[in-house]
Amino acid sequence: MRPHIRRAVLVLAAAGALLLGLATPSSAADPVLRDLAQAKGKYYGTAVTASKLNGTYATIAGGQFDSITPGNEMKWESVEPSRGTYNWSGADAVVSFAQSHNMQVRGHTLVWHSQLPGWLTSGSWTADQLRTLMTDHITTEVGRYKGKISHWDVVNEPFNEDGTFRQSMWYTKLGQSYIADALRAARAADPDAKLYLNDYNTDGTGAKSDAMYNLVKSLKADGVPIDGVGFQGHLILGQVPSTMQTNLQRFADLGVDVAVTELDIRMQLPVTDAKLAQQKADYKAVTSACVAVSRCKGVTVWGFTDSDSWIPDVFDGQGAATPYDENYQPKPAYYGIAEALGWTGDGGQDPTPTTGCAVTYSVTNQWNTGFTANVTVKNTGSSAVNGWKVAWTYPSGQQVTSAWNATVTQTGSQVTAADAGYNATIGAGGSVSFGFNGNWSGSNTAPSAFTLNGATCTAG
Ligand code: G3I
Repeated sequence: MRPHIRRAVLVLAAAGALLLGLATPSSAADPVLRDLAQAKGKYYGTAVTASKLNGTYATIAGGQFDSITPGNEMKWESVEPSRGTYNWSGADAVVSFAQSHNMQVRGHTLVWHSQLPGWLTSGSWTADQLRTLMTDHITTEVGRYKGKISHWDVVNEPFNEDGTFRQSMWYTKLGQSYIADALRAARAADPDAKLYLNDYNTDGTGAKSDAMYNLVKSLKADGVPIDGVGFQGHLILGQVPSTMQTNLQRFADLGVDVAVTELDIRMQLPVTDAKLAQQKADYKAVTSACVAVSRCKGVTVWGFTDSDSWIPDVFDGQGAATPYDENYQPKPAYYGIAEALGWTGDGGQDPTPTTGCAVTYSVTNQWNTGFTANVTVKNTGSSAVNGWKVAWTYPSGQQVTSAWNATVTQTGSQVTAADAGYNATIGAGGSVSFGFNGNWSGSNTAPSAFTLNGATCTAG
């Protein structure tokens, strides 16, 4: 082989290896959550976005989890955006993905106050018309997936925080009986699907949880088909309710199954090692609570990767709520789940890779209104960073004009430098440098604080 051809082959091979490396969600020694859960008689599930089910996202979803919940695709506004016009494409995609990966499907959700189509919410219906619309919707959707859905969230979020019924269009028009009617319609459409009520902030004991408890008790007493209660588990770092296991158990004692259906544990950004360690403990605590309750059928995380989570869109400055980071690397939380499911593969050692970074910022040239700067980012953690964004704030009005070896964007004083693709990976202990020209006036004070992918770095 001629030298330049050999060189090209080597470069291609290296690029291929790098791509493979990027696509590898976790190392071979890492546990498989679905196997661990099955050994405990549970499932471990994830919510997904149907359009993302390819590449690494699909590999992790189908490899690590044995239950799947469409995050939005089975909601009323998704499946019937205009009256009588159905769009099942997203829902069908999730169901067929589940079938080809041997996963259960949690259907989510039939009767909710949110994500309803405009034609439904803006119509002026009599109570009878609305009840028929609701039961027809259930019959159509549950019927379509008959035999393919293991659990349905039939009614979602029926309560206010104080335990009174939410004043949704369902409750205000139909009264409490809409819940029993919805459950009966679902049972008729698929007698084998397990029918759930689902809500948030019912994870521990309290007024809202008591209201759900009393509702389930009365539905059971009235012979209404109710099989389970879902506890969404949208939690805040360090605030797993201490009564969670007791709470799950008291519902189980009513004669229904229970499940954690939408687990995520959000934190104020930036991410730190201490927060990740707390999050690991929190995920472990929730999963352990389910393991300890025999009627707890499983846990579903509401998105498995921080790149696919509703939290940053809704809670300002918060995020990093799921068990995998934005680059599909397992976080300590993932190992916390595995440990709660009995994994001891780490020999009792904490397998959590350490993270850390150090940034050196230097002005290498400066003239009357302009300057050139160089930034070196060192990965001081124990695992590679795949894809990076370095951010800082300029203290005295500097403005970046052109950059090399990074894509730099600036909004006001906030600057973000993203990798240029070819330098996306920073190995453990490795570093990467980029540079840029900028304008200054008055003073050209260097920024004092930097983050790498949201985590604070030391500045040198
Ligand atoms: O699809 C549109 C897109 O076309 C548009 O460009 C974009 C602009 O914002 O919006 C997209 O729709 C978003 C939709 O998610 C799909 O991504 C909506 O704005 C957004 O509001 C919607 O958020 C969903 C949220 O429910 C709505 O309440 C989240 O993805 C979904 O994770 C979340 O899930 C709920 C559970 O169903 C019930 N429990 C609480 C949980 C979190 O809110």
